Amino acid sequence: MKPSRAAAGESDGAGGGVDLADVQKTFDAWAPAYNPTHGWTLPRRRAARLALGLQPGDRVLDLACGTGLNFPHLRQLVGERGQVTGVDLSPRMLDVARILIARRGWGNVEVRQADAAQLPFADETFDKALCSFAMNIIPDYMRAIREVRRVLVPTGRFVSLEVRPILHSLPYLWRVCAVDMSHDVLGGLREVFDEVQVSRAWLGVILIAVCFRPAPMRRDLEAKP
Ligand SMILES: C[S@@+](CC[C@H](N)C(=O)[O-])C[C@H]1O[C@@H](n2cnc3c(N)ncnc32)[C@H](O)[C@@H]1O
Repeated sequence: MKPSRAAAGESDGAGGGVDLADVQKTFDAWAPAYNPTHGWTLPRRRAARLALGLQPGDRVLDLACGTGLNFPHLRQLVGERGQVTGVDLSPRMLDVARILIARRGWGNVEVRQADAAQLPFADETFDKALCSFAMNIIPDYMRAIREVRRVLVPTGRFVSLEVRPILHSLPYLWRVCAVDMSHDVLGGLREVFDEVQVSRAWLGVILIAVCFRPAPMRRDLEAKP
């Protein structure tokens, strides 16, 4: 496997000038208008959530959950017995998510404010984890990827839905969104997880990476006596 840019030392995953304070400021300001401006992402989100393979009763982490746009479908997939936990850095994004939770009266959906690179959960707390449109933003994305693996059970699965760094030519747009396009998300995922299955949409601009620990085939072999 080709070493990722992160592994090769080209990026330490600590961001290329966009730090935690920049990110929080950007999304605190964007929070009231976020949902209407993110409608274009809805069809691909559904595909990513289904790729989690959620079962009723599963505990799922929505990393950098923002305003909770994934919550209704995740909650439907895990059912009454399951648990949906969202984590985000921005208190204002989480305010919007909390309003959604209260309006729906969900007792098994909760949000916590935290840095994705330092998750406030014990090892193996979750069955599945999702991160949509945030790995290119989380400043220390390599640590965040390692944290996701740590909090997943050994049979866990992580799905990362991302816009690929094809639109480099629009630096101003990405700056406004606090995106750091130097992040080598796919390389990082391949470095940390045993197997990563990738599908692309919209001429390769959207990427869905399904990450396993360990790889599904090895898991089948391990299950045999
Ligand atoms: C483009 S929004 C995506 C939100 C949500 N996942 C979605 O699909 O709508 C990016 C989110 O990442 C969050 N974020 C960025 N860096 C973070 C970090 N280090 N820890 C937790 N959340 C972070 C931001 O606060 C913001 O809510």
